[in-house]
Amino acid sequence: MEIPFLDLSRIDKELKEALKSKFAEILDKGMFSGGQEVDLFEKAVSDYLNSPHAIACANGTDALELALRALGIGPGDEVVVPALTWVSTAEVVLMVGAKLIFWDTDEKGLLAGDWTKAISKKTKAVIPVHLYGQMVEMETLVDQASKLNLHVIEDAAQAFGAEQYGKAAGTWGDVGCLSFYPTKNLGALGEAGMCLTSNTETNKFLRLLLNHGQIKRDEHEGVGRNSRIDSLQAGFLNVMLGKWETHQKIRKQIAAFYKSELKGVSDLKLPTGTEEQSHNCHLFVVQTSRRDQLKEFLKREGVGTAIHYPAILPDLKPYLTKGDFSNARAFTTNGLSLPLNPYLSQIEIEYIVDKIKDFFRS
Ligand SMILES: Cc1ncc(COP(=O)(O)O)c(C=O)c1O
Repeated sequence: MEIPFLDLSRIDKELKEALKSKFAEILDKGMFSGGQEVDLFEKAVSDYLNSPHAIACANGTDALELALRALGIGPGDEVVVPALTWVSTAEVVLMVGAKLIFWDTDEKGLLAGDWTKAISKKTKAVIPVHLYGQMVEMETLVDQASKLNLHVIEDAAQAFGAEQYGKAAGTWGDVGCLSFYPTKNLGALGEAGMCLTSNTETNKFLRLLLNHGQIKRDEHEGVGRNSRIDSLQAGFLNVMLGKWETHQKIRKQIAAFYKSELKGVSDLKLPTGTEEQSHNCHLFVVQTSRRDQLKEFLKREGVGTAIHYPAILPDLKPYLTKGDFSNARAFTTNGLSLPLNPYLSQIEIEYIVDKIKDFFRS
């Protein structure tokens, strides 16, 4: 059997047809930037996540950078970022000229609760990352940040639809940033992202920044750039939203199956909280001291896996930083992401489970 970690050509026939007709519809209308699809998408996300403003943009990395700029963060400022995350979270801090302060994660891979020890007089913001789709405890973090007068920019790129105490990931901080990269739970057929905010001024500023500082055509209020979402991607995302609940249900079922079948396998630590609403089951990351052997074994047996991530950011060339990042580092040596997506069959997940059990029996 060959089971890829994720193969987006497996998108089901019905969904493919709906996407093709959306393409045909937009092609016939001839509207490829802005327009109705973008408005509809922003409105749909704003309603679904209960966020007063939902500002679509070109990708999740831009969303983070725009958020920093809109909050006035730049040279001379410091921003606290977890040591374990996708590179974008740290990259954007340097792109706006601010200083990165890395902090370790907890055992779940989320910014450790004692991150406040990292701050100085220069610290202006913290970027909690809802890694793997599991949310950082936001009530506590927002409270800590507000006592310290810090901005909170939520990196909710992996956590679309997750919520805590009825409040969605991305709606807790000053700005929440989403990615609709194709592999995400809600993915475009290309690049797309979004900023969420409840602040009217921040909304206005974000919209100016991502559209050359224009309030309307040829009226430039300030300096910005082009980070607009493609109308096509907004259109595809509107179609994808129709499948969202169904896809999430499948993800939750697969995670539950893995959990019940792999429970008790020695030297295999399973992720926690996947059944909670605060986890959108974006990734299913198991941990084992024999990670590399397990990965190789599964590969030989036809099962694709992935590593999120092979290195912590403070160990990467552009971000070299010394410090104790032992929890974050543990994921780089022990963490393995098993296939978890709506395109897997029951037979396939049973096969994956059997092979993992075989490995640990040998
Ligand atoms: C945690 C995290 N932050 C930021 C991003 C950046 O999003 P994008 O790839 O849309 O630029 C991603 C996704 O790739 C991510 O996983």
